[in-house]
Amino acid sequence: MSVDERALLAAACEVRERAYAPYSGFRVGCALLAADGRVFLGANVENAAYSPTICAERVALPAAVIAGVRDFTALAVVGSGDGPCTPCGVCRQVLYEFAPDLLVIAAGETGEVARLHLGRDLLPHGFGPTRLLT
Ligand code: THU
Repeated sequence: MSVDERALLAAACEVRERAYAPYSGFRVGCALLAADGRVFLGANVENAAYSPTICAERVALPAAVIAGVRDFTALAVVGSGDGPCTPCGVCRQVLYEFAPDLLVIAAGETGEVARLHLGRDLLPHGFGPTRLLT
């Protein structure tokens, strides 16, 4: 892992502290690196009605889009427990819209850190904008 990747992971760890996860107890933080070097942070925010819960990745990505940023290179995600916390299926699809080649650096509180590519490893044969926008 490069120094930049370690810094991105550290940012995801830090924002994870602000996750609101009283129901699952599973806290997730993420840091999304834009091509221009800006970093957008997210953490999961749960809800008593359960289904309005939003994942960390879907907090960070729309924040970037409304800041005018649509070009991303890497995402670090840190979740609870041991081993890599990889993005859920919905988040994979949402990220794929803007960054099919995104590098995903996934970690837990302990253990292995995984380096994966969104389109190649996490959402092969994904459905994306090129199917609709010509
Ligand atoms: N969660 C995320 O924030 N990101 C993911 O990609 C996986 C799941 C959150 C949603 C919920 O608050 C908790 O983790 C347990 O599923």
